[in-house]
Formats: sequence, structure tokens, C-alpha cells
Amino acid sequence: MGDTITLDGKGESCLFEGRVLDPTGVAIADARVEVWSDNAEGYYDVQQPGRQPRWNNRGTFLTDKDGAYAFVGIKPTSYPIPDDGPVGRMLDALDRHPYRPAHMHFLVTAPGFQKLVTHTFVDGDQYLESDAVFGVKASLVARVEPSPGDVTQWRSHFDFILDPAIQSQGAVHTRKCGP
Ligand SMILES: [Fe+2]
Repeated sequence: MGDTITLDGKGESCLFEGRVLDPTGVAIADARVEVWSDNAEGYYDVQQPGRQPRWNNRGTFLTDKDGAYAFVGIKPTSYPIPDDGPVGRMLDALDRHPYRPAHMHFLVTAPGFQKLVTHTFVDGDQYLESDAVFGVKASLVARVEPSPGDVTQWRSHFDFILDPAIQSQGAVHTRKCGP
């Protein structure tokens, strides 16, 4: 709890914190919160093996008895999806840019609840209205606020609500979004 996931020392530090709750507002303790983001230069660790430390800007955390999570990453940066192949030609044909607004990925799981795969987007990002992969929803836009006097330069609070597992179907909807 509270540990840093940024291993390359780059970027502006940001405290991400919030709670994991059920639909009635009851805290979910020991929920597993897996997170990942790009680095300050807009690349994931897997895109730069040997240049970034392994597991840079990735982490796994467990919520406490109040359902709370906290970790230190960086204020994410917007980045272009790879556009040197057919995707780039398609974007050109559609007159669209390849950028994604800055975001932090989250995968939240807990026994008895549906898996949640999502991301939070940095409020105010210039690409919020034109995400290259159409992942933005208003409910996923998170304020990233200056945090003067704290250890980190920024802080972002976001609560997640998990839906109960569907016993009869067991199907879980996930969305693939980024590396
Ligand atoms: Fe991403």
C-alpha cells in the first residue's frame, strides 16, 4: 500500500488513491488492484525492453479493510498508438490522429464480483474528445490535482464499484485497450 510503481525516475509523481466498493457502497477489502501506465515519454515498459526497467509503471495492490488503495506513479502522458502499419493508413484515411489521452490502466478483481478492466483519464487532456481507440467515457475522467506540500507533485482520487458476479452466466465483459 502506497508503494511507488515508477522505476525509471522519470515524470511527475502522482499519488493515485481511492476505494473499491460494492454497488451499495460497502467497502471490498482485499480487492486486487492491478495498474499500469506509460512512462513520461509515452511508452510502456514492454515497448522499450532494455531501455526501461522491467515492470516499470506496473504494480499490484490489495485494498485494506476500508476498501482503500493507494500507490505512487506518474501523471500519465498522452501517447500515439503504433501507426506505422495498416492502422496508420486507416487513421490517415479517416483524417484522425493516433493519440490516446493520458490514462492509468486498472484491473480490479475480488471474489464474488465481476472483473473490472478499465482506465481513468486525466481531466483536461487535449485528446479526451478524440481518443484514437474510443475508450473515453465521462465517468472515467479523473481529476489530477496539484498536491503541494505532499511527497508527490500530483494526486488523483478515483473510486471503483464492482458488480456482483453473474452466477448463471459467469461471463465477464472486458475491453482490450492498449499494450
Ligand atoms: Fe494505455
